[in-house]
Amino acid sequence: MPKEKPKKQNTTSANSVDPLGTYPHDTAGKVRRIEDLDAIAMEGGGKVAIQKQHDKGKLTARERMGLLLDKGSFDEIDKWVRHDCTNFGMENKKFLGDGVVTGTGFVGGRPVAVFSQDFTVFGGSLSLMHARKILKVMDIAMKCGMPVVGLNDSGGARIQEGVTSLGAYADIFLQNTLASGVVPQISVIMGPCAGGAVYSPAITDFIFMVEGTSHMFVTGPDVIKTVTHEEVTFEDLGGARVHNEISGVAHFNCEDEAKCLADVRTLLSYLPSNNLGDAPEVETNDPSDRESALLDTIIPDSPEKPYDMYAVIAEVVDERKFFEVQADYAQNIIVGFARFAGRSAGIVAQQPSAMAGTLDIAASIKGARFVRFCDAFNIPLVTFEDVPGFLPGVNQEHGGIIKHGAKLLYAYCEATVPKITIITRKAYGGAYDVMSSKHIRGDVNYAWPTAEIAVMGPEGAVNIIYRKELAEAEDPAALRKQLVEDYRDLFANPYIAAEKGYLDDIIRPRRTRRRIIRALEILKTKRQTNPPKKHGNIPL
Ligand code: HXC
Repeated sequence: MPKEKPKKQNTTSANSVDPLGTYPHDTAGKVRRIEDLDAIAMEGGGKVAIQKQHDKGKLTARERMGLLLDKGSFDEIDKWVRHDCTNFGMENKKFLGDGVVTGTGFVGGRPVAVFSQDFTVFGGSLSLMHARKILKVMDIAMKCGMPVVGLNDSGGARIQEGVTSLGAYADIFLQNTLASGVVPQISVIMGPCAGGAVYSPAITDFIFMVEGTSHMFVTGPDVIKTVTHEEVTFEDLGGARVHNEISGVAHFNCEDEAKCLADVRTLLSYLPSNNLGDAPEVETNDPSDRESALLDTIIPDSPEKPYDMYAVIAEVVDERKFFEVQADYAQNIIVGFARFAGRSAGIVAQQPSAMAGTLDIAASIKGARFVRFCDAFNIPLVTFEDVPGFLPGVNQEHGGIIKHGAKLLYAYCEATVPKITIITRKAYGGAYDVMSSKHIRGDVNYAWPTAEIAVMGPEGAVNIIYRKELAEAEDPAALRKQLVEDYRDLFANPYIAAEKGYLDDIIRPRRTRRRIIRALEILKTKRQTNPPKKHGNIPL
């Protein structure tokens, strides 16, 4: 044991080159050295930098890891890694771990690979060695089949390393892409995420952001001011609200870091560890045959009146628990995870109380991405349909609703997981086909007696097919009323579709939960494959 604390060899940081000076060469000295180095590594950029981090309302990389993982389960690797940059005097500024904490741990008893960028070290910026650490845990995840959770808090490419760090980012983008569809990848943005750095999270499956402290943008406010003369704050440019409500880049907006990491744990509980496994089953006391009288009356008498699809979902899923994804974006479609008899399912549903549940560009993209995620990871899809059609409008057409709507269609068409559809009310036009219809390999298609299935709604249809008669009628309003009623009698019901076998059954709404659970039970052993190909060409 050294008699007195060894002298530090540089002044840049307690965690720099040879931070502890020399130790005796005996065993006790060697053990003492590793213990002291360990303690220094735990401090990241040092006490002052940690205080700054806390002052900003942010936790440190290790504190976050503690909240994310099961207690005591973190097994760190590469704590000893340091950068090898010699530009700008960097050879005198080295920190153990080089600005990112990496390793494996457990969430709900299942292994996950994790990295947590440490803003207290060079602003969490990404050097070659920092990137290699991230790549190593991703590699473990791929080999062993476990999710990757990345906690991002970084100033981006390490400026002192120049193109080396750009290349290192590209290495991560490639690995993100190769891992896509193999293991779930979750990005948690807990600070800045700027420039090309945003593209790693963007490739991953889910992005969490924290209200007030996380920001994502390709170019920051200063560059924008120079180029476009627009003045904007960090928050208004790329804050959690912007990316959850406006851009749709993020999937979850969390009020603080602790809630955010708890939500990541919840999300993981619905997911399998990899594309070859199933999501874990969870014990439930909710009876599979539980009926809901509310569902028998939830559809209003008037087809123009909205109702709340969340209430329908709550009535049928286990313990009324629904973990919504992208809750703040394109609210005319609802997507998220729930369980039926303890097993995970992905829910896709129209929301009649938002834009009448029409499918627009944003809703199509949101739905398509979710459907593809579920399909990639063996999560059955349960679709609740009440869709008057695609949203009409010049903006929608010029914005490409054709190709964006096709994304949702393509996603449902290619999906081979069990697909159950419940038409609660409207299923009009192309949207009827899109929403997991029998024609695109819906496995079990049910309708409530309140379903209306036709090419379009009665008003629009009558205006087109009786245009001449209406123009010549003495009392066009009375004639239109009569024709609309006739059309409604003929088409605004589920019986014609059922007659043709496009529906498997017309069910009592109150029994929806038991019918879904029974169908999922039957479909548990479903096996279906698509024709062999390199990959399809989804309309991007
Ligand atoms: C090296 C960096 C850094 C970086 C921050 N630091 N970003 N060091 N490379 N990219 C350092 C700072 O010098 C500082 O060191 C410490 O981290 C904390 O930074 P502050 O500026 O004091 O913190 P704050 O005020 O909170 O501002 C955070 C910030 C700002 C908004 C992230 O640091 C910033 O704008 N950084 C540059 C962001 C950027 O343009 N990155 C490149 C993006 S392009 P000291 O020693 O003073 O504590 C990119 C390309 C990826 O990433 C391409 C992939 C294809």
